[in-house]
Amino acid sequence: MLLCCAAMTAGITFALTACHRQGELTPQEREGKQLYTVRCAHCHEDNDLALKKAPPDLHRLFQRKALPSGLPATDTAVRWTVLGGKGMMPSFARRFTEDQMQALLAYLHTGLR
Ligand code: HEC
Repeated sequence: MLLCCAAMTAGITFALTACHRQGELTPQEREGKQLYTVRCAHCHEDNDLALKKAPPDLHRLFQRKALPSGLPATDTAVRWTVLGGKGMMPSFARRFTEDQMQALLAYLHTGLR
């Protein structure tokens, strides 16, 4: 019982902390945001190439059940898309180090702008 209450308190504390994080990114998430801004946003936010099939909004990607294509919204699926490309999206194979890929995913997980 005591253990159960402790776990619940921890859960609630975590939920509150998560809410209070609004706008505050860790250094890793900040690096990811920088990469996203430079490499992804021009298509995914501005569609600067005026692609007929507009690149989908990536914010809150991991808070959804599935990616726009219907693939499960997992790190693996997003990595796969980024490394392999998809439709009009180019492949970023060898463009990111493993650290950069992890930073990008960490930022996308925050769902923050
Ligand atoms: C040249 C424009 C362009 C750039 C740059 C680009 N994308 Fe995309 N992206 C697209 C388009 C177009 C699609 C839709 C592909 C389709 O479903 O045919 C897409 C789809 C996606 C999807 C959804 C995949 C799915 O299965 O639904 C993810 C995730 C994604 N991009 C991540 C990224 C990330 C992360 C970056 C930066 C590293 C990035 N993209 C850079 C054009 C781009």
